[in-house]
Amino acid sequence: MAHIDEATVQAIRRKHPIKEIVERYIPLTKRGEDYWGLCPFHADNNASMSVSTRLDMFQCFACKKAGNIFNFIADMENITYGQAIQLLASEDGYQVNTERIENKNTKYYEIMSLSIKYYQNNLNSILGENAIKYLEDRKINREAIKKFEIGLSISKQPLTPFLLNQYDLNTLIDLGLTNTEQKDIFNDRIMIPIHDLYGNPIGFGGRIYQTKDSSKYINTKATKIFDKGNILYNYHRAHSKLNKEDSIIIMEGYFDVIRASTIGVNNCVAPMGTSLTKSHIQILKKITNHIILCFDGDKAGELATIHAIPLLEEAMVDTKIIRLEEKDPDEFIIKRGAAAFLEKIKNPMNVIDFKMNILSQEKNLNDTKETSIYLDQIIHELLKEKDEILVELTLKKLATRFNMEYSTLNSRYLEYKKKSKISIVPPIQKEIRRKNNTQYRQATDNLLYYMIKSPDVVLKAEDTVSMILDDKKRRLFNEIIAYYHKYGKLIVADFITYLETETNVADTFQNIFTLNLKSTYTKEEIEDYIKCINYYYKKNIIDKLNEDLKKEPDPMKQASIIAEMMKIRGVKNND
Ligand code: UTP
Ligand code: MN
Repeated sequence: MAHIDEATVQAIRRKHPIKEIVERYIPLTKRGEDYWGLCPFHADNNASMSVSTRLDMFQCFACKKAGNIFNFIADMENITYGQAIQLLASEDGYQVNTERIENKNTKYYEIMSLSIKYYQNNLNSILGENAIKYLEDRKINREAIKKFEIGLSISKQPLTPFLLNQYDLNTLIDLGLTNTEQKDIFNDRIMIPIHDLYGNPIGFGGRIYQTKDSSKYINTKATKIFDKGNILYNYHRAHSKLNKEDSIIIMEGYFDVIRASTIGVNNCVAPMGTSLTKSHIQILKKITNHIILCFDGDKAGELATIHAIPLLEEAMVDTKIIRLEEKDPDEFIIKRGAAAFLEKIKNPMNVIDFKMNILSQEKNLNDTKETSIYLDQIIHELLKEKDEILVELTLKKLATRFNMEYSTLNSRYLEYKKKSKISIVPPIQKEIRRKNNTQYRQATDNLLYYMIKSPDVVLKAEDTVSMILDDKKRRLFNEIIAYYHKYGKLIVADFITYLETETNVADTFQNIFTLNLKSTYTKEEIEDYIKCINYYYKKNIIDKLNEDLKKEPDPMKQASIIAEMMKIRGVKNND
């Protein structure tokens, strides 16, 4: 970016009002001060995207995407921010040096693409015959091999020397393709390319196919572009095919997803060898509210399902469950056929039915006492269920099954429900910590939000905030202050360009910008946020020092830790 100076980028941005750019892709209608349209970044049916001519920004109130014209073009065209600038720059007749304007990851994606091609060629070479046979035996057809860009690493035809013709060793090491001895990381494995959410190639899963290696799969290590916790295998393909009422099916393995696709089920993703996390759920929530868990048929798959349910419940996702009578979806489809699997997808289980199964597993339901415990547990689970009809149906089902009166079960349910509303949650330490944490996070977010809106808040925050613990938010905090001092004001649409090109906190900014808090704030509110941030910071450090103190045997060092704690207690706290 260095050669297109900031002023030029700003001039380009001003020349193209956001409304004009958005209208190239989607129709807008005026409502109030802003323009509104169907958001093109998620399945939208009620015009959730607003375009503000005042701010020169777009934002979707449903999927929380936001930004200026360059962000919009980048997301629409599936190109980088730098490429979007370049696109408009050349439209406006600026001469731009394409190489340097590219996002710094572009080269990495290029290398990964080239590696995919290399591995694909290997698979089609003579040395790939056994691997092809292996895939054929697994009933992975040519079409699937092509679609999923499956390839082969061959120790006799290594990737590294080929790439070293064009790229330097350190880059290959950084990408997890090569080790410091210039040897390939992946040797004689079936190579499954992994892409990020936007479809950029970022890593590989490599499966053994002829040797007995202790690790069945090896995956690319964490790299600058490969962050396992924030991607899902096949997300970019599943996403592009999704209709608004469709579900996403979560499976465990690469080959489960690939197999499903061979029978026309294209909405499957897999967290790769890790359990489902909150960030996976947040990613999926942006494109659908319907999730089907379809983990392996074994005990581990059942446990993974049990683990995932509360996370999905907390995220208020409509969750359904499929349990399989075979090892995994792959085997299920091979052994029982496509129709049997499609039937499973058509009639997935409710969470409550799944829980009823689980809870009954270790009980003897011929025993009256155990049955009573069982019913009690289920009624407790039903308290979480928002769908009243489902609650009633479940209670009726239980009544029939155990030959009881529905009214008995229902009055127990209502009694618990009443209690659960008035009961005070026991003060479990963890619960308190979590709450504090939420409060702290909110205070930080809200403060940043109003800093973006108002110079007064920036100055106040600069003066009184001791430290923000979260790395990205701290960086954003500092960037806002620096930007104000440099320009005397903060025009978000320009600030974004700066963040996109010079920092790694543009996404953090986007999250804050789309909070949509009330437009006015009081001085007291800002002071409260700052107080909370400073309190939490102090507490955090003092807790850590306390831990150190407990472990420290040397009285001299103990004294210095205590002195340190005293000093911290004196940190400006505004209270
Ligand atoms: P599974 O062990 O269930 O493998 O791991 P699978 O999908 O059935 O594999 P196949 O069918 O034998 O080829 C599920 C997923 O966990 C990750 C992979 O993403 C795999 O698809 N995994 C598994 C690893 O990352 N490393 C391993 O050693 C094993
Ligand atoms: Mn399998």
